[in-house]
Amino acid sequence: MERVGVVGFGLMGAGIAEVSARAGLDVVVVDADQAAVDRGRSRLEASLRRAEAKGKLTGTEGTADEVLARITPATDLGALADRQLVVEAIVEDETAKVELFRTLDKTLTDDEAILASNTSSIPIMKLGVVTQRPENVLGIHFFNPVPVLKLVELVPSLLTADETTERSRAFVQDRLGKQAIDCQDRAGFVVNALLIPFILSAIRMYESGFASAEDIDQGLVLGAAHPQGPLALADLIGLDTTKAVAESLYEEFKEPLYAAPPLLQRMVDAGLLGRKSGRGFYTY
Ligand code: NAI
Repeated sequence: MERVGVVGFGLMGAGIAEVSARAGLDVVVVDADQAAVDRGRSRLEASLRRAEAKGKLTGTEGTADEVLARITPATDLGALADRQLVVEAIVEDETAKVELFRTLDKTLTDDEAILASNTSSIPIMKLGVVTQRPENVLGIHFFNPVPVLKLVELVPSLLTADETTERSRAFVQDRLGKQAIDCQDRAGFVVNALLIPFILSAIRMYESGFASAEDIDQGLVLGAAHPQGPLALADLIGLDTTKAVAESLYEEFKEPLYAAPPLLQRMVDAGLLGRKSGRGFYTY
């Protein structure tokens, strides 16, 4: 695997492009328009310069400028034609992703090329079946921030070939130096299926007046050695994203533990989205 593509130059796409280029791969990143490409490139460059300033770029990765030189930003999906692997990281919208997979399938000239999605909650099967290569389609789910967090969930659908999963494992483990775990094609995979109900329980506890946000979070930090409490974590993930993933889980399993509590719904309606909007369970 030498030629990799990323679609979506947002938070996750920039991270996936960064770790791929740091691994020495040739990377093309496509976003919908020039403004989005410029934003993504600035975000990626800032992250690389920070890593360089902290001495985190290794000899094999090269300097920030050398890493940047391995990345070609584009606005036209045609720039991905010769890629051996493309990771989709556009908005979490099923219609948009289905449309994109249809187009990418026709764009990639290599029949063996792998088409991966970074989706957190959309079934991989829905993306595989709109292509002529469902055996080469799977989920490769990274965690935010991508350059920092080691985990990647590999999510084959019922139609994904074992060889596709193994080639993807080699990419994330041998090339990117991450650790892969295998998950079934079910909403939330492993991590979000466990993490989201935990966060929702903390929100219910806070909503009921059982304990303050600070005390709930301190309880988990000091009593269970979590690096941060569940409400601070919800603010970091984004309350809109937390709600969207909860809704996907609820839609899939119909279990009350996945239902978004009213307070979460109201906070999202109010634009209180956590760190990114300056206020959530805490003020930033
Ligand atoms: P984001 O909103 O930061 O970035 C999405 C980017 O996709 C934007 O730059 C947008 O212009 C672009 N885009 C939208 N439609 C497009 C199209 N049709 N063609 C090309 N570009 C298009 O979103 P973020 O947070 O990076 O999420 C991307 C994906 O990663 C989603 O599927 C999300 O569920 C998943 N994800 C997000 C995580 C997070 O913590 N934010 C963690 C793991 C997965």
